[in-house]
Amino acid sequence: MNKVKFAIVGCGNIGKRHLAVIDADERADVVALCDSNREKVVALSELYGDIPYYLDYRELLEKTDADVISICTPHGLHAPMSIEAANKRKHVLVEKPMALTTKDCQQMIEAAKTNEVQLMVVKQNRFNVPIQLTKDLLDAGKLGKVYMVQCNVMWNRNPEYYSESDWRGKERVEGGALYTQVSHFIDLLIWWFGDVIEADARLDTKLQQVEVEDCGTANVRFSSGVMGSLLWTTCVYNKNYEGSITIIAEKGTIKIGGPYLNKIDFFDVQSFPIPDKSIFIDQPNHYGKYQGTSSNHDKVIGEVIKKLFQEVHQVVEGDEGLKTVEAIEKIYQNQIPFNRE
Ligand SMILES: NC(=O)c1ccc[n+]([C@@H]2O[C@H](COP(=O)([O-])OP(=O)(O)OC[C@H]3O[C@@H](n4cnc5c(N)ncnc54)[C@H](O)[C@@H]3O)[C@@H](O)[C@H]2O)c1
Repeated sequence: MNKVKFAIVGCGNIGKRHLAVIDADERADVVALCDSNREKVVALSELYGDIPYYLDYRELLEKTDADVISICTPHGLHAPMSIEAANKRKHVLVEKPMALTTKDCQQMIEAAKTNEVQLMVVKQNRFNVPIQLTKDLLDAGKLGKVYMVQCNVMWNRNPEYYSESDWRGKERVEGGALYTQVSHFIDLLIWWFGDVIEADARLDTKLQQVEVEDCGTANVRFSSGVMGSLLWTTCVYNKNYEGSITIIAEKGTIKIGGPYLNKIDFFDVQSFPIPDKSIFIDQPNHYGKYQGTSSNHDKVIGEVIKKLFQEVHQVVEGDEGLKTVEAIEKIYQNQIPFNRE
């Protein structure tokens, strides 16, 4: 294999980003696109020099010689599309959240194993500069015992974000804000502090006309014993306000903040100043009317390529993607009922 060949399924917001970063990587090519919306797939194909395109996913899988299928469709399609791709002996790179249920995640992992292909999950925030710095400190034991963590996802999604989409805000396909917005953050917390072993939550839908929550709070405990609290909403006025994680530990306090975990808001670690060479350069993904989380998809694609060339890599695999979905299920299942009287 000289170059890794990708096919991208789903030419919406994030499919476009996959295409841009794969196209820019000299060790990869995009050999096919697929979207059930003709207008979208044709426009993107033409923009990149007439990449072959398909409107039907099964036809793509029958005909493409791609090594990797990059799945950028709504959450509810992640599991069936990943399983079909694996059954055609294609490696899979699936967007977050990996799927909507643990059972689906397990079936995806099983299909990849049976067909001896890779199942890789997009978790691009792991590459944010403040996140990597914190991971290194935790791994080196510089923070001592960690007591508590607080995570805030206080973002703005305007009514059109939901009303102009045929899947956002729909319980069966989107699941809820924990899957769409908060899964990025839960992945990091599990990466640092272990599986979520206890959870309870309060959810509400205060502003948006949707089937899922737009506000929530949860208390969680991680397998390492760390206590955690989560607060999330898409109801913030006008624009994203904060995406933050604050760690309270024996030998230090760190608040990673900014609107999308891109800054260090507070850093006080025993005998360890922020390294002078740290440059906080992470940028958000821009989707027209709203901004998402970090745009480090180029790093994710770079790691996928390294893995397929059997080099040292930092790919997030299916079994880790499953842990976030398992935690989300636990939080939703342990809701404390809200009495509106
Ligand atoms: N990692 C990140 O930061 C990030 C950011 C945005 C979106 N995402 C994820 O990417 C996925 C897509 O989100 P989006 O914002 O790009 O959505 P989107 O609605 O903009 O795009 C989804 C695309 O999938 C296409 N599609 C739907 N059903 C299809 C089918 N059966 N066959 C082929 N194409 C089909 C739609 O026509 C649409 O073009 C979601 O799971 C989301 O969580 C991840």
